[in-house]
Amino acid sequence: MFYFDVQRITFLLSAHFFNGWKYYLCGMISEQFFLPKYEPKVPQSQTVIWSAPSNIALVKYWGKKPVQLPANASVSFTLSNCKTITEVTFSAKKQKNQLYSFDILVDEVYKESFRPKIESFFDKAQEYLPFLSLGHFQIRTTNTFPHSSGIASSASGMAALALCLMSIEKSIDPTISEDFFLAKASFLARLGSGSACRSIEGSIVAWGSHPAVPNSSDLFGVALNRPWHVFFEKYQDTILIVEEGQKQVSSSTGHELMHNHPFGQQRFEQAQSNLSHLITAMTQGDLDEFITIVESEALTLHAMMMTSNPAYLLMQPATLSIIKAVWDFRKSTQIPLCFTLDAGANVHLLYPKSAKSEVLAFIEEELVVYCENGRYICDEVGEGSIRLNDYPN
Ligand code: PMV
Repeated sequence: MFYFDVQRITFLLSAHFFNGWKYYLCGMISEQFFLPKYEPKVPQSQTVIWSAPSNIALVKYWGKKPVQLPANASVSFTLSNCKTITEVTFSAKKQKNQLYSFDILVDEVYKESFRPKIESFFDKAQEYLPFLSLGHFQIRTTNTFPHSSGIASSASGMAALALCLMSIEKSIDPTISEDFFLAKASFLARLGSGSACRSIEGSIVAWGSHPAVPNSSDLFGVALNRPWHVFFEKYQDTILIVEEGQKQVSSSTGHELMHNHPFGQQRFEQAQSNLSHLITAMTQGDLDEFITIVESEALTLHAMMMTSNPAYLLMQPATLSIIKAVWDFRKSTQIPLCFTLDAGANVHLLYPKSAKSEVLAFIEEELVVYCENGRYICDEVGEGSIRLNDYPN
């Protein structure tokens, strides 16, 4: 008990008095830090609404340890336009039972296929949010990007749900500070989907213990608030939709394949080293180094899948054509356009805002032909999640 309180007091004190230093002790924080400090009690019936953004990793998380702990540190841009909006209405139950009670509606339609994922999330989160079994939750969720776009909604979706649950927890324990609220929301989101812990705050977020990131933790993501070079302000991400629809390989299957992977250990070490160099490049405005690392991370992610057992090939011929066209364009124009990939065929084009008109013209002239139904989504680095209804309500 003493240990937990020391963690919390240190966190609160440092948040208030040593701003900027507050997370230096985060590496010492354990799961127990997020256990509730109040007597279990039924919250008031209420509705909360949060919007949480998607994120795109620059240094990739691929491979994990139980429970949803990363095999290496990762860092991502928080996006602005691609987001999930989730409304949770909590109704106190008259009778206590141990079963979770919830409805899940996606775009106003009941979605039974989402039930197992939410049940599994509630199972993991129950210890930290004891009120989960004390009421009925109506969860209504929608994405600003179409389901058919092939963009994973698990990061923004789990982040939005975690934030709603944290707002309910704060109604029970109003002493929860803003820092604790964000850290625990990230911690809970991680239990639902690893990369979701990077979808709470903007604009550059790291997750995973790393010596170059003093505030880092395997348990939750932290916003990196250093003065980034001006090149990275409102950095652009245009997502070329090469393949609409569901991913061919779930990320859980993918992470699993990193166990006993022949190149696994080297890959985890490489990611740690890439993260250090990337932070330096982004601080100094070294776009050449930024591009080298970001593209290597994307290709390495796919190389890991191509060399796992069983092997997966998630790029399509159009993905490769886009990559080659980007390399040619960069060489001939000197415009610092680069790409990154998720676990799929779609291509994220990353570039400074100052290059927007040239890059969009290039996409229209040369790349749109590779996009399924000519579709692409324009996004940029954003500021993180937002509560959409007032408190209390
Ligand atoms: O959060 P998950 O389990 O869906 O894994 C995400 C993995 C990648 O998107 C490929 C990389 C990353 O760091 O976001």
